[in-house]
Amino acid sequence: MNDPRFFARADESPDHLFYRDARLVEHIDARAIAAVENVYRTWIPPQSRVLDLMTSWVSHLPPDVRYASVTGLGMNATELACNPRLDHRIVQDLNAEPTLPFEDAAFDVALICVSVQYLTRPIEVMRELARVVRGGGRAIITFSNRCFPTKAVAIWQATDDAGHTRLVEEYLLEAGWSDVRVFAHVGRGDPLYAVVAEREHVDAGEL
Ligand SMILES: C[S@@+](CC[C@H](N)C(=O)[O-])C[C@H]1O[C@@H](n2cnc3c(N)ncnc32)[C@H](O)[C@@H]1O
Repeated sequence: MNDPRFFARADESPDHLFYRDARLVEHIDARAIAAVENVYRTWIPPQSRVLDLMTSWVSHLPPDVRYASVTGLGMNATELACNPRLDHRIVQDLNAEPTLPFEDAAFDVALICVSVQYLTRPIEVMRELARVVRGGGRAIITFSNRCFPTKAVAIWQATDDAGHTRLVEEYLLEAGWSDVRVFAHVGRGDPLYAVVAEREHVDAGEL
């Protein structure tokens, strides 16, 4: 995991160039979107403070569930402005700056949907998620088998769906997350995998 070649990309130009133009499209098919929504319905309690990392104009949160707040961080301001679920919007390149601009324990749940393959510093980002999610909170990382190939990291492109699942588990465990569970929704159309992890409670004496 320490080998920088794992995180090389065909297009090493700054990410803001690639994400300059808004893409107001769906990146997975309707069944896979329904599977994401179902995962969120199961694992995000109503009234949670939600962080949707690497988001765009859609968050795939169940429309009938109310959350205390939804904060979105992504690369394109127009996409974020078009996302009706977001209460707060931040544009930040996580490959240039993985430190998140939030207080410790500011969220109950953090999400990354169909985007984890673009992180060149994934463990730093997962550590930051562990910092900004409260003890007992969750991370939910979903992905399919599609990507922008020039921007996905080499280690992602070198393996298959099962390998992607193990890789995401590894990222989370390495960053201090625990109780990692994997769910697969496969059939016709785009597959959808979800990796759900828990943020351990930390006693005051351990801080
Ligand atoms: C395939 S889209 C998925 C968007 C959204 N999560 C969804 O489910 O439709 C990939 C997203 O990753 C985000 N992204 C890619 N590279 C990023 C980076 N370096 N820092 C922050 N976000 C990034 C982009 O803003 C883009 O919206």
